[in-house]
Amino acid sequence: MESIINSLFVKISGNPESQPVVFVHGFPYDHQMWQFQIEELEKQFYCITYDIRGLGNSYVGDGQYTMEAFVWDLFSVIDRLELHEPVLCGLSMGGYISLRAVEKNENRFKALILCDTRSEADNNAGKLKRAYAINKINTMGLNAFVDDFVPGCFWNDSIENKSELFNSVLTRSKSNNPLGVKGSLIAMLSRTDTTEALKKFNLPTLVLVGEHDSLTPPAVMKKMAKLIYKSQFAVVPGAGHMSPLENPDFVNEKIKNFIENL
Ligand code: MLT
Repeated sequence: MESIINSLFVKISGNPESQPVVFVHGFPYDHQMWQFQIEELEKQFYCITYDIRGLGNSYVGDGQYTMEAFVWDLFSVIDRLELHEPVLCGLSMGGYISLRAVEKNENRFKALILCDTRSEADNNAGKLKRAYAINKINTMGLNAFVDDFVPGCFWNDSIENKSELFNSVLTRSKSNNPLGVKGSLIAMLSRTDTTEALKKFNLPTLVLVGEHDSLTPPAVMKKMAKLIYKSQFAVVPGAGHMSPLENPDFVNEKIKNFIENL
């Protein structure tokens, strides 16, 4: 079922009586990034995913977003659907949203799944990279930025051998509204650092990272996992930063096992 909640495009599937799982996608993509997880996990869980404000089919508005507003959006979806203690699963930018949401109120969640993300805020080099990205969109257009950025999200091997998948991510990313993409970049560059909060997290947490993720490499995520008291860490073989798309079987198995044993 598709729905609009708080001007966000939301996709809901599975049995509402079973454990809810909310999936938050990465940048500059949309809810489709979880297609292989939902296909499998909806058989067992109540699966909810949505397009982050400014991306996919969600409302773009004035393009002025903050990470905090993205968290309010997440809470608005959970509230409207009356989800009781969902498992929260976020990748990269979706991970930034999830980390801040748990820092704000972990009692709302049953567990956390972090894929290919980091707790640190952008450093100076990272902030400048965002500035150049915005400039590229302004001067050369969104396609030029996406052509530059998206290949870095995949393992080279996936680009070659899963070219249909890679091209569909490229095409969908290019179909975003440039204002929404720039707004997301500003929200990311101005986000807070959640590293200190990790030490206080008391939620069971599954940390997954693609073996060849060059944006949030395994070493970074392992360090993050070590700061979380109840964490499990796993490296996804044969995958880059888009691990749930690049190796869905492995990721699905890990997620299923993790939730079944909560
Ligand atoms: C993402 O996949 O969401 C982005 O790589 C996050 C980022 O640019 O920091």
